[in-house]
Amino acid sequence: MPEQEREFEIVVWGASGFTGRLTAEYLLAEHGASGGLRWAIAGRNREKLEALKDELAQETGSSTDALPILIGDSDDEASLVAMAGRSRVICSTVGPYAKYGSGLIKACAESGTAYCDLTGEVHWMQRMIEAHQDAAVASGARIVFNCGFDCIPSDIGAYFMQREMKRLHGEACSQIQLRVKGFSGGASGGTIASMLAMMDEAAVDPGVRRAMSEPYSLNPKDQQTGPDSAEGMAPSYDADFGEWTAPFVMAGINTKVVRRSNALLEYAYGKTFRYDEAVLMGSGVGGFAKAAATSVGSAATLGAMALGPLRRVAAGRLPQPGQGPSKEKREAGYFDLALRGVSDSGRVLHGRVRGDRDPGYGATSKMLGESALCLARDPLAVEGGLWTPASALGEALLARLPQAGVSFELED
Ligand SMILES: NC(=O)c1ccc[n+]([C@@H]2O[C@H](COP(=O)([O-])OP(=O)(O)OC[C@H]3O[C@@H](n4cnc5c(N)ncnc54)[C@H](OP(=O)(O)O)[C@@H]3O)[C@@H](O)[C@H]2O)c1
Repeated sequence: MPEQEREFEIVVWGASGFTGRLTAEYLLAEHGASGGLRWAIAGRNREKLEALKDELAQETGSSTDALPILIGDSDDEASLVAMAGRSRVICSTVGPYAKYGSGLIKACAESGTAYCDLTGEVHWMQRMIEAHQDAAVASGARIVFNCGFDCIPSDIGAYFMQREMKRLHGEACSQIQLRVKGFSGGASGGTIASMLAMMDEAAVDPGVRRAMSEPYSLNPKDQQTGPDSAEGMAPSYDADFGEWTAPFVMAGINTKVVRRSNALLEYAYGKTFRYDEAVLMGSGVGGFAKAAATSVGSAATLGAMALGPLRRVAAGRLPQPGQGPSKEKREAGYFDLALRGVSDSGRVLHGRVRGDRDPGYGATSKMLGESALCLARDPLAVEGGLWTPASALGEALLARLPQAGVSFELED
């Protein structure tokens, strides 16, 4: 059935999980269960989803009686095909995506169903692009990965800086730097499980290691070179910001997605465009000490998670699937990112991306919900294919996200 005539506009698959529940809560708060938006929650376990409806009704004070439940199990291909055929958009929070997500991408690509998710699993995205790009182009399915904290602030932030540089000065930014000024939040069990699963695959598969380390690994196959190199792990002094910096843990995925956006936008940012991310740590000796400690700490954490015995000790203390930061922590959380764009002729623009909730869950669930709404309702410039947020949803997200508490602003 054509996408426009489907029974639902959006189905949230994985609604019983930590982030899926927050996404459902957001759509319920914004649109109700039986208001203008035709949407449903989905998962593999009907009892859990029935219980979720009751809990959401209690928490939000909105009736959920009219909210439909669909069943989709990653082990049951027919259930995924049936689910994909009933909605314009499937919004998936079922991860680790490399473990549970491939069947749904196939079902969406073949049935012309739009899709958005929260994956940061580069190797899996690479596999999905290779396997399903042709089917998505043929069916018209617009498939958009990375619609959470990784990578919307970076990808839409870079898109915003390019748009503003062109509007004000008629040229593109040949370089953009993103610097993390601050953030507060925590991790969920699902995120930790996804990171561990990716490290396990990297340990035995050199192809996965390459996908994770090569700076242009998400670009189309014949376009995987450019001026940027892989992120380093050492502290460094950033003369443009006047501070010491440490590596940013999300840079590995964010930078690759921004570069893929440039390629998919037919190099609107230029063929020599450079992009990097880091965390600002302050100036002087104190800044250096913090940058060095953070760099060593990040490397040690990654090393410990890769080693069996240390990992088992850590695993018992970390959140398990279904768990994540408390409501208080999410509401007290925030993120604050600085952007600096420079054009070939030396024009400089400063920008800021800010979120009013913790990045990983409070803000992510709103960014994902709004991405699904863009796919369901907004006029988009792209047809079927596997896209990035900026290449498919750039203008639509810039119009929607400020009302959802994620702002993109120029500073000068
Ligand atoms: N990009 C970002 O910024 C960002 C932020 C947050 C999360 N994430 C990612 O989002 C994903 C979800 O994280 P989370 O913390 O919400 O995870 P979670 O709480 O563990 O939830 C996982 C969901 O997947 C469902 N599921 C598991 N196996 C399934 C199967 N075989 N078939 C159908 N459904 C299945 C679970 O259903 P049951 O309840 O029935 O077990 C649950 O609804 C992770 O990959 C995480 O890395 C990314």
